[in-house]
Parts: sequence; C-alpha cells; structure tokens
Amino acid sequence: MKKSLQAVYYSCLFYGGVLLLPYSPGTLAWKLFRNKKGKIPLIHRDLICDTQTLMALPKNDCSLDEFTTAFSPFIPLLTLNEQPWKMRRKVLADGLRRMRLDENFSWSLPHKKGDIYWDIYEALFIIGFKLVFGRDPTDEEYAQMYPGIEDINRLIKRQRASADMPARWKLYNQVVKLLREESIFSGSSDFNALSEIDRVSIIVEDLLTSICIQCADLICHLLLLYQEQKDHFRENLERSIDETLRLYPLTDIWTRKGSEPERGWIASLVQLNRNGWTDPDSFDPSRWDSEGHPPLISWGFDSRSCPATKIGYNLSKKLFEQIIQDETLWIVPAANFTHDRTFLHGCQVWVGVGPQPTKAWKFPGKWKNELQQWFYTRFRLVDQGELW
Ligand code: HEM
Repeated sequence: MKKSLQAVYYSCLFYGGVLLLPYSPGTLAWKLFRNKKGKIPLIHRDLICDTQTLMALPKNDCSLDEFTTAFSPFIPLLTLNEQPWKMRRKVLADGLRRMRLDENFSWSLPHKKGDIYWDIYEALFIIGFKLVFGRDPTDEEYAQMYPGIEDINRLIKRQRASADMPARWKLYNQVVKLLREESIFSGSSDFNALSEIDRVSIIVEDLLTSICIQCADLICHLLLLYQEQKDHFRENLERSIDETLRLYPLTDIWTRKGSEPERGWIASLVQLNRNGWTDPDSFDPSRWDSEGHPPLISWGFDSRSCPATKIGYNLSKKLFEQIIQDETLWIVPAANFTHDRTFLHGCQVWVGVGPQPTKAWKFPGKWKNELQQWFYTRFRLVDQGELW
C-alpha cells in the first residue's frame, strides 16, 4: 500500500512537472531527484537514478524508442527488435567499419549573427553523403534529399508539428536510385538480402540523419563551451569532449518496457551522468582523471549502445578542431539564448574573428518560438507515448 501511494505521488510529481514546466523530462528528473539513488517507483515503471542501479538491471536488448513517428516512412534501427534488429545492426556495423574519414575535408563556420545550427547540419549532410557513397552529392541529389533530412530533425526538435511527407518521399525515392551505386555496402550480400525499405532506412536514418543530428548537436555544444573554457579545451581536448557529453548528453531519456516479472524503466541521461560526482553541474575535464569515477553514459551502456561511437566522435572532433584552428575566432551567444541539452531554438550565436564585440545582442522571435516549442514538445510526449 505504502509503495503504491509512493508510486502515485512520484508519478504526479514527475509527469505533472513534465507537462507543466519548461524542462525536458531528463532535465526535470535531475532537478527533482538529484540526491536519490536506486529506483524511484512510478505507476507503470521505475525511474533509475544512478549508473550502478542501471548496470545491475537484468539484460534486456529491446528497443529504446519503438513509438517514434518522427522518422516516417523510414524504420530506424533503434525502433527494431529481435531478429530484424540483429540483422540490421550487423549489416550497419560492417558498413561502418568500411567508412573512411577523409583527412582533408574542408569547411568553415560562416561568420554571422544568428543560428549556426543548420549551417553545421547541412555541412554534415554533404560529409555524410561522401562517407557513404565516396563522392559529393550532385545538385539534383542534394535538392531531392536535403529537405527530407532537414525535416526529420525539425520534427524531432519540434520546430514543426508534422512531417513534410512529400519531402520524405523524394528522399526515399532518391535513395532507392542510389542503391544501385557504389557505397560502403557494395558487395555485401547481407545488405542486398534486406528489403528495400530496410536498405533505404539504413542509409537515411541509421547513417545520414544520425550523422547530421548527433554530430551537429555535439559540435554546437562544443562551440558554446569552448568560448567559456578555451584553456581547458586547448589543454585536453579529449577530456573536454567527454565532459561536454557528460553535461549535455545528446539523448534525453531512455524508456524500456518490462517483461514479467521485471518492471519497465525510464532513465534520464542528464541524471545518470551527474549522479555520483562531486560538483556535478560544473565543467571540469580533470574529473575524468580521478580513480573509480562513474562511467560516461552518453554513448549508451548495453547491446543497444551507439554502434557509431568511433565515427561520431572522430567526425565531430575533426570538424570542431577545424573551426577552432583560427585562434582569433570568437563565438558570442545571444543574450536571450540559453545553452540547453538540445537545440530547440537552434544555436543562436554571433561568430567573427579579431576584436570581440562588447555589446550584447539578442536573437529575434524568442517568445513566439518558446510558446510554439512548449506546445509541440508536450504534443510529442502525448502523441508518442514517450513517458508512459
Ligand atoms: C556524435 C555523437 C553520438 C552520440 C553521443 C550517440 C549516442 C547514441 C546513444 C546513447 C544511443 C542509444 C540509443 C538512444 O540513445 O536513443 C545511440 C544509438 C544509435 N546510434 Fe549513436 N550517437 C552518436 C553518433 C552517431 C552517429 C554519427 C551515427 C551514425 C553514423 C549513430 C548511429 C546510431 C544508431 C544506428 C543507433 C541505434 C542502435 C541500436 O538501436 O541498436 N550515432 N547513439
């Protein structure tokens, strides 16, 4: 009885807060339960508070997010289960092993005042295309594919309420044509044995969109922190990247369904990454030199962990290094921009070289965006059954 009352209390507190407060579920979990360890009972599942408890859970390789409608008509690997998942994951892992990061790709961050998120996203699309097909996209291919790739992330970031299906189908059909070309999957009988939609989804979702979304988010976090923490970044780049991913994991929450007698669970990556550290909210790359510290959970933790850690890490690092090569570069965030875990308003900064401006600046349309975001984000929680 006491347990079920507790579950009702914590469910009202957590789900009520998620619906009403301007925080993502992952951030809210950390704000509400930062001193808790173990499991917090909710009505249908448990909230896992720390990595020790997470690692001690029974093995479970079912999909993390099978509800998502944001990718339609594609079927990303992260929504699959059992044999179809095993097969796709193996094919993807073989393809990733054949991917070669070009040592000489060149791209520079535009000097501008405004949102740099989509400039980086677009650059990553071209780089991603080349990683998969070994050449740049033609203008025609770019025009057929990029709007669909952009739409997926605008919907995930709830800058749009619904999918642009014509753009998604153009993307789909263009990739069907590309299946006949040389790619990292050429000669793979396992790849060729997959259905058309699986082959297209590997290229669009598991590779191109993942490269664009994950690396663009990570690079923007790095750029925003770099401006405040130049000495740390110049002293130890690898530790600074880990620390960036600890504070700003690219995924907000994980949810898993239970299978009797085990209850399902939900976990916040922000909470898992901060629980157990001293001074958990501060940026301190040297914390990674201490003995027996909690693990970095941002790449996942079990058989569903990121299969593209190497390429994701190396590509983001390389592009970031290229941007900060110029030591006179400055990046000044807008005074009304908040550096949050995800880039719902894009990455609103002023980028330039030489003497840094002393005058603060604001990006326009913040409150309209904020209101729209609030509505679309709550809509997504309900529409995708993300939390329950
Ligand atoms: C750059 C930083 C990246 C981080 C921090 C990251 C993190 C993660 C995490 C935590 C997961 C577990 C599922 C989830 O959280 O939703 C995951 C899964 C996945 N990631 Fe990454 N990722 C990154 C980059 C990439 C890139 C560049 C690719 C593709 C080339 C990629 C492809 C995938 C795929 C296909 C899955 C699903 C795996 C499965 O369900 O078996 N990731 N990633």
